[in-house]
Amino acid sequence: MKRVVVRHTEKDDIPALIELQQRVYPQIPSWSRRNLRHQLELFPQGQLVVECDGELAGCASSLIVLWDDWAGEHTWREITAAGTFDSHNPEGRTLYGAEVFVDPTLRGAGLGHALYEGRRRLCRAMNLKRIIACGRLPGYHRHAAEMSPELYAQKVVWGDLRDPVLGFQLHEGFSYCGVIENYLPEDVESGGHASLIVWLNQDYDPERPTVIPEEIEL
Ligand SMILES: CC(C)(COP(=O)(O)OP(=O)(O)OC[C@H]1O[C@@H](n2cnc3c(N)ncnc32)[C@H](O)[C@@H]1OP(=O)(O)O)[C@@H](O)C(=O)NCCC(=O)NCCS
Repeated sequence: MKRVVVRHTEKDDIPALIELQQRVYPQIPSWSRRNLRHQLELFPQGQLVVECDGELAGCASSLIVLWDDWAGEHTWREITAAGTFDSHNPEGRTLYGAEVFVDPTLRGAGLGHALYEGRRRLCRAMNLKRIIACGRLPGYHRHAAEMSPELYAQKVVWGDLRDPVLGFQLHEGFSYCGVIENYLPEDVESGGHASLIVWLNQDYDPERPTVIPEEIEL
């Protein structure tokens, strides 16, 4: 039985995180050390990693946004301020998932679930209304000649096609809200597109402000 631990990201994790990200997405440019350091300075509470038997095995990075600023249209580059998270807004009510990945050799063992559970804990601890993310559609390139990204995503929701990312997110209780075209043009597998997904925090109290505690227990 493997020992799985979700914890907050530390500066010392940065080299291993970059190495892992390069293995996960060989075709997409990875984060820079500088941006990762900046993310940790701006919003350390939102940055999570998962360890498997003491080895770094995945991460989930988030920022807070005022969703109305972005709901109409956005790309990954815009909403994350080119990966710096300078767009992080502590006045917002939405935890925005900017990235999640698990070591390719450790998939299907519950690590992604552990990271998502960590994100849900962050959302509850900060009294945020919801988690929103734009998920990759890595299976789309196999069907791009026959159908639009919308129809592809709908077929995944209907259970007629399997997508490794959207399928996982639906299984985690997220609702599919539509496709954002040209979200991440470098993501060739997804045709650059992404699925907009949301999870609502049932414990959210609109009477209380958003709180960002120094320490959040995971
Ligand atoms: C998406 C990703 C993070 C999932 O991580 P993972 O560790 O393999 O997922 P888990 O093993 O925790 O799966 C959790 C649950 O979802 C289910 N699941 C996983 N993939 C699924 C799929 N494609 N369809 C339906 N259910 C799925 C699992 O069966 C598991 O359910 P269970 O707890 O009932 O057994 C991982 O595949 C990944 O890193 N992908 C590449 C990076 C990427 O594209 N990230 C998305 C950026 S938007």
